[in-house]
Amino acid sequence: MLVVRKAAQAAARKHLCRPFSASHTHLQERKGLVLGVFEKDGEEEGGHLTEAAARFDQSVSGKLSELLKISGPGLKKGKSRLFYGIHQDFPCVAVVGLGKDSEGVCGAEKWHSRKENIRQAVSAGCRTLQELEVGHVEVDDCGDAKSAAEGAVLGLFSYDELKSKKKTRVTSQLHGSADVDGWKKGIIYAEGQNLARFLMEAPANRITPTAFANTMEERLAPHAERVTIKKRSKAWMEEQQMGAFLSVARGSEEPPVFLELHYSGSADSQQPLLLVGKGITFDSGGISLKPSQSMDAMRADMGGAATVCASIVAAAALKLPVNIVGLAPLCENMPSGKATKPGDVVTAKNGKTIQVDNTDAEGRLILADALCYGHTFNPRAIVNVATLTGAMDVALGSAATGVFTNSDWLWEQLQQASVVTGDRVWRMPLFQHYTKQVTDSQLADLNNIGKYSRSGGACTAAAFLREFVTAPHWAHLDIAGVMSNKDEVPYLRKGMSGRPTRTLVEFAARLAHSG
Ligand code: BES
Ligand code: ZN
Ligand code: ZN
Repeated sequence: MLVVRKAAQAAARKHLCRPFSASHTHLQERKGLVLGVFEKDGEEEGGHLTEAAARFDQSVSGKLSELLKISGPGLKKGKSRLFYGIHQDFPCVAVVGLGKDSEGVCGAEKWHSRKENIRQAVSAGCRTLQELEVGHVEVDDCGDAKSAAEGAVLGLFSYDELKSKKKTRVTSQLHGSADVDGWKKGIIYAEGQNLARFLMEAPANRITPTAFANTMEERLAPHAERVTIKKRSKAWMEEQQMGAFLSVARGSEEPPVFLELHYSGSADSQQPLLLVGKGITFDSGGISLKPSQSMDAMRADMGGAATVCASIVAAAALKLPVNIVGLAPLCENMPSGKATKPGDVVTAKNGKTIQVDNTDAEGRLILADALCYGHTFNPRAIVNVATLTGAMDVALGSAATGVFTNSDWLWEQLQQASVVTGDRVWRMPLFQHYTKQVTDSQLADLNNIGKYSRSGGACTAAAFLREFVTAPHWAHLDIAGVMSNKDEVPYLRKGMSGRPTRTLVEFAARLAHSG
């Protein structure tokens, strides 16, 4: 019986594929196409197709628009609808809703809806085709090839490295557009973010400090001409007198690494942009142990290091005419007989003493030393990125990265970059009042947690970092709230987000092109 049914199915499949060449019978070789349609706007009778979709429609004698009409109501933003067998080369066509053609930048919210709509729609179309096990998709630029590429590459990513059953690998290609440059850029930006997602999502027993550094070495190897990598050992950290960083690393059996990346895209005389990322490959809290619920998420506590390093890979791939130094202090925060204890006093690289009242406030300790060291490169701007405080998550959640900065100029640059990428930043107050929370310590110069109040924990952490900064253009990005994605960003599947890698890349690109 089974045999008979199988034979019938095979015959049916054959029948379906009859108009096409033999190669189309193989699932992985089937090509898909993603085309956009705008929602009905104002006086319009119905929605209208994008330029590429309209050309495709012509090539099939209006069949696509006809099917769209009879298949149901107008396609809403971010929704997709599938059509089969209307074109010889594309057995599956996904039409995706782009929202209204009139949508642009919302001034008050600094939100580029049009670009976001494209990312969302293209990702939805690509995923629908991925579920059908289509191995290759061509994508309509929908009027913005860069955003379309980002939607495709970000939307298709999933971390199934360690599963036996993996999602279909889908390759994507631009369809019917001349903006190959925009498309290629979008691919690089999105692949950068996917690298950060990969590093963040991977379990802590896979991405140890050493494995993290090795991965970066591999990913930067194609750009060896312009990139140098230094993997600093514990002995080097001791020489550098990084007592704060070492106090965190000492609880773990896993050796710490201080990763130093140099990207030279410009003359040596040009001051570099300094990026510093928190690289705690697992944050158990140390002796101030975290509750076990959701502790697994702390494998992504190296999100700062991941986004910073991934953005340097992207900058190198884009050959941005700028110099960048990337620093990633990498270690685990673990409890053990050797671990730092609450009340211990440690000495940072700049000689300041710190009373460690809570070993779970470890990010600021490792960043303190990295920031001190970073100043030796005479940077034109310093941006540090860290999954620093639960309080940041409480404040803004996944809506935006919190930016604490002493520079209006730097804030403007970061904000403008984030409008383009849709991965938003929000300015937070570097309020002087919080300084006394961390400078009034019983035993030392500083306390690693707020002495008087738990309120405004993200501001307290920023005030602490500020004690290690003398540069005039510094920004601290607290990314704890945007670390993971449930369904807030529709073009990212559930999991670690890799945010705000694209904003960092865009920021570097703007800096590069402004000279
Ligand atoms: N890595 C955490 C912050 C975090 C929390 C990131 C949730 C992402 C999601 C950080 O090291 C931490 O534990 N901070 C403490 C500081 C506190 C002890 C002052 C916190 O936020 O509770
Ligand atoms: Zn912690
Ligand atoms: Zn942490």
